Amino acid sequence: MVVLTIKDKREICGNLVSAVLGDRGIDSFSYGEFFEGSPFLRIEKPSEVKVYEHRWSLEGIFRRYEGHGILEEFTSVYDDILIYELKRISGGPIELNLRGNLGIFTWFNPGLRKEIIRGVTFEAISERRAFQLSYNGTYYLRLETDHDVEVEVKEDRVEYAVRTDLSDGDKLVMCTVASSSKEEVKRRASWAMQNPSMVREKRRNMLEGLLSKIPQKPEGVHRDFYTYLWYVILTNRCVVERHPVLKYPFNMPSKYMFRHQWLWDSAFHSVVLSWYDQKLAEEELNNLFIAQKPDGRIPHEIFLSKHLCKAIWRIDDYSPWTTQPPVLAVALGILFEKYKNKKYIKKVLPYLIRYDKWFRDFRDNDKDQLMAYVDYLESGWDDSARWDLPIIKFKKNSQRYLGMYKRIRMAPVEAIDLNCLIYLQRKVIAYLCKELGGNNLACEFEELAEKTKNGILEHMWDEEEGFFFDVFEEDHSHIKVKTPAAFLTMFAGLAEREQVARLVKHLLNEKEFWTTFPLPTLSADDPRYNPRGYWRGRSWINIIWFTYWGLRRYGYDEVAEKLLKKTLNLMENSFTCNENYDSSTGEPLGAPDFGWSTLVLDMLMRKRPPLDEILA
Ligand code: GLC
Repeated sequence: MVVLTIKDKREICGNLVSAVLGDRGIDSFSYGEFFEGSPFLRIEKPSEVKVYEHRWSLEGIFRRYEGHGILEEFTSVYDDILIYELKRISGGPIELNLRGNLGIFTWFNPGLRKEIIRGVTFEAISERRAFQLSYNGTYYLRLETDHDVEVEVKEDRVEYAVRTDLSDGDKLVMCTVASSSKEEVKRRASWAMQNPSMVREKRRNMLEGLLSKIPQKPEGVHRDFYTYLWYVILTNRCVVERHPVLKYPFNMPSKYMFRHQWLWDSAFHSVVLSWYDQKLAEEELNNLFIAQKPDGRIPHEIFLSKHLCKAIWRIDDYSPWTTQPPVLAVALGILFEKYKNKKYIKKVLPYLIRYDKWFRDFRDNDKDQLMAYVDYLESGWDDSARWDLPIIKFKKNSQRYLGMYKRIRMAPVEAIDLNCLIYLQRKVIAYLCKELGGNNLACEFEELAEKTKNGILEHMWDEEEGFFFDVFEEDHSHIKVKTPAAFLTMFAGLAEREQVARLVKHLLNEKEFWTTFPLPTLSADDPRYNPRGYWRGRSWINIIWFTYWGLRRYGYDEVAEKLLKKTLNLMENSFTCNENYDSSTGEPLGAPDFGWSTLVLDMLMRKRPPLDEILA
């Protein structure tokens, strides 16, 4: 008997979470094409699988396994209907396990998890061959099979297990439809199940509409994969209704796991969207300005509901008390270089100026124009080894640091990437002020930018190692953790030529950063390096993007091309656009269909390094 498991049915679970919130009178949301999903089909003994095929088309996702006979799986989506169809072609019986979990939100909130589980019921209809899952009277899932099925809802998890034996010729169809009416769900589900080809056609039409406007394919990428990348960035877009902050459509980083708006993610999304449509690219940033706090801070993220924000951050707001890497100015600079839309810039520049002042007021205790991160999550590099020592230091003497910063969870770090971004932010502000005729402000920001640059060069370069390091704010001592954050000095164009030559040596060293999937977030020669560690060794596409353009800025075009090719090959081969990758094997990890990983499109299409004009 072969056991197959379909894991992580987050699209269903995500709706359960929403339903709970809706029940409590918290805003109701609509998610665009949120239901789209790949079901993560896993075979318990993967070593026994001989052939594995994965194809993607506008009609859905197709997978085929050979080894224990053949199983064919088809996924199709239209609107808010999701269908999985599993067909047994030949071979012995297969036992199928279907499991769902509620994703990260409920890790932080066991109370919410319990409540959801209590509300979930499975109901058998038509002699145990069809099932429906509901939460407090709202139906989410309908399942039909030619075979008897056993369903089980566990007590402590929403791990509904569906067990079935599929023999040759058998078929299992599962369909998710959200509706509060049982009749409606039945009607739509049975229509969809009886007319899978119409469902596929509708999906095709909808996607064709979206994809008909994508730019011409550049050289160096397969057509299918190129289209798939566009599909990812275009279908992650969502609309939230009646939300006090999320007033404009925006891109969720991933529809499965990261279901609200993040600051640096949206900046990256905007860069990619600028190749598609000016309005979408500008609109992607709008909520971030709306979210700006009276003191000038642009927050880290904007949650769909206060409830979840409170569960995770213990704060009665839609956003936590932190910011995130300030990539926003980079995005605005890129949009300006492309569109020269002075009207838009005039509107948003004041927000950016206030944001820079917020850094000066609240993230620079020693007033040296090098800003500090005071929280590991604020850095975007959540669990990076860069923060190990600062966290220990803070725990030992928290009173001292609480005297410097109102809220703080690690000893303040003047981070190399943060300050490269601050330098760029100031250069962008200066440039845009000049464009709008504000010469005094432009001079002020030029001066500020210079100070930050000089601080970086003076305190963060380590001549012996030939590398840039983060420094503690209190004494400017180096935190000697080698990471590709140092390569942002090339992106910002502030490293000296000799320094760049030494950085490139590290970059191309197989023992450091030139791993199978290049640029691990921790140098491979660090004892803490873990190729599967989140920000402790996996490879991320946004870091590759900064580095690629940094190399190009200094004329290392060949190295840049090698970096892009290596990255693209692995992504194309696995046909994935994941959140991150195992740096030693290239295995896709993290959330699938991840927004900023589509930055490879920008590397393929752009001719000159971004912000060239502004940094000239
Ligand atoms: C994770 C990442 C962070 C990112 C967020 C949304 O928390 O560490 O950098 O912004 O997910 O994608």
